[in-house]
Amino acid sequence: MGVNSIIIGTGSAVPEKVLTNAELEEMVDTSDEWITTRTGIKARHIATKETNSQLASEAARRALKMAGVNPQDLDLIIVGTLTPDMPMPSVACLVQKELKARKAGAFDLSATCSGFLYGLAVADKFVKCNRRAKILVIGSEVLSRRTNWNDRTTCILFGDGAGAAVLTGTREDRGILSTHLHADGSLWELLTIRGLGTAHPVNQEILDKGWQYIQMQGRDVFKHAVRALESVAWEALNANGWTGDEVDLLFSHQANMRILDFLRERLGLEQEKVFINIHKYGNTSAASIPIALDEANRAGRLEPGMKILMVAFGGGFTWASAAMRW
Ligand code: ACO
Repeated sequence: MGVNSIIIGTGSAVPEKVLTNAELEEMVDTSDEWITTRTGIKARHIATKETNSQLASEAARRALKMAGVNPQDLDLIIVGTLTPDMPMPSVACLVQKELKARKAGAFDLSATCSGFLYGLAVADKFVKCNRRAKILVIGSEVLSRRTNWNDRTTCILFGDGAGAAVLTGTREDRGILSTHLHADGSLWELLTIRGLGTAHPVNQEILDKGWQYIQMQGRDVFKHAVRALESVAWEALNANGWTGDEVDLLFSHQANMRILDFLRERLGLEQEKVFINIHKYGNTSAASIPIALDEANRAGRLEPGMKILMVAFGGGFTWASAAMRW
């Protein structure tokens, strides 16, 4: 029998400050009613003093504690993020320093909202080569620093936070059963932070254009997101010989409640089989799935043998799935 990766610990961390829809009503021309009906979001956590690497490290500590794994026994740290503390070093290296994970390699992975699932796929391959490997996969974002707080079409959507999972191997018939990764760079302009990279370094013109901020063609992204999420979900189901209603719990990237409802209907899932926490956190990009996974885990909603499907979609475009038997 081959080796499967299993998740032996999860953790998450969000900034202290909560920003409600009511507070956003004071900042831009919007309403709680619009935000709730269009997105399902009621509140989000916003970093004031916390950095991405601090949130990532805290989520990691909690996951390691649950797993009973000493940081010094970690082999690898992968952080999915599009909002690192700085271009160099990586968030993963800062987490490695914080945890004193002396033996671990560490790198960031840039796949926007699919970052955690891309990270899981990479970690899974490492574990398949070394059953005893211990790998930390984190999704962590501080999108609020790349949000234009005068743009009502985007500022109501995003939140900050981090989620983490510790992986190792087993010969048992459980754990990660499949991963599928996809991308379409031709559509990058629909969802982008154009500026402050090396193509458009900081200068007054770039700042005046607002290219330091996230820019999204929401309606177009929505159409692509529902199509891609449904197709990657079916791809995972077919690869494992599962029907839609066999899934015990679906973790989809929490971008919009209407997207989650659409997926639930298309897969023929009952309401309680779709994990939802978008109302509390908004869209936390790469952190969204691992935060949800940790909440479900700590709430006792993950039972051995359960069929878990995870799907994500984000800028790039990127989209991905992971199917697991818990
Ligand atoms: N408050 C009030 N009105 C608003 C707001 C707001 N915050 N924002 C937009 N509006 C207005 C618009 O101006 C527009 O008015 P008009 O009809 O007079 O022109 C109207 O509301 C409808 O706007 P739409 O953009 O068509 O609204 P839509 O129903 O598409 O919802 C949303 C917008 C929530 C952004 C949606 O398109 C969406 O969720 N898109 C997908 C997001 C996603 O999946 N992203 C992928 C991952 S994110 C990542 O990778 C980082």
